[in-house]
Amino acid sequence: MRSWLYALGNHLGIPKCFGYCSLIAVADEFTTPLHLDTNENFTIQITGTKRWKIWHDITIKNPMHNCIASRPVQEEFRLYAGDPRPMSLGQPDLDVELRPGSGLYVPRGVWHEVEASQSSLSLNIAFPTHTWIDVVIPIIRRALIRHSLWRENAYGMLHSRSSHVSSSVMDQLEAMFDRLPEDLSTIKSENFRRSQSCGLVGLLQRNPFTSFSIFPLEGKVSEYRVEFVHPNMSKVFETIVSSDIAVLNWVMEQERPFTISELNRQFPNYERSEISRIVDLAIRGGLLLANSD
Ligand SMILES: [Fe+2]
Repeated sequence: MRSWLYALGNHLGIPKCFGYCSLIAVADEFTTPLHLDTNENFTIQITGTKRWKIWHDITIKNPMHNCIASRPVQEEFRLYAGDPRPMSLGQPDLDVELRPGSGLYVPRGVWHEVEASQSSLSLNIAFPTHTWIDVVIPIIRRALIRHSLWRENAYGMLHSRSSHVSSSVMDQLEAMFDRLPEDLSTIKSENFRRSQSCGLVGLLQRNPFTSFSIFPLEGKVSEYRVEFVHPNMSKVFETIVSSDIAVLNWVMEQERPFTISELNRQFPNYERSEISRIVDLAIRGGLLLANSD
């Protein structure tokens, strides 16, 4: 399977470590509700049958968030797609039954619904997004980091809701935005060539052989002891975290590599420095591996 994955990724011009395979097993009759994915998906039916309904006429162009029609839309998704959930759907543009051996390509952003009327096993090969935003953001960071002004602690912004930010801080922010074009003017396409792997150097992958446990600390409301456990039990790293552990839980669930910027997008309300701290912790605990392949 790995050779298929690499060959397909190579053909699509996607780094090979970006794709991943999943086996999807359904025990009985089951419908995956109407949704769209950010991934480019290739599915191959192995046993049983599945009926795929696809509406490609109302595709969302280049989504960066998955969307299930019956669930609320994520705030960031609204910025580029509004509320795209179809109120009613006509006949699907494609209505096809996959049988053992048949395959289907479902592009990113296409609404689809899948029905299994019996037990079924299928293989999914997926290529997650790695957008121009992911490429450019690290380059912008490298441009701004040269200026002491941008490296200043953002006092007045940290732990504040934007409605509580003082007018002097807002003035400072406005002045910084004014100088942004000049500070970014050092960015040339040459930067991209030299730092081709910039977005990928930060590619992280969960180490499937390490697990972690969380123990509430007695008498403390929001402090936890986190234990990272390696499979041979010879090395146990433990630490105390006082922040929300949602980031660690998200990391633990990841089956494919991801970038820091993707993690930042998942947790828009977290301070970036806090996310970096937790990632650093997860790397030291062996839960995350840096993957520069
Ligand atoms: Fe899907």
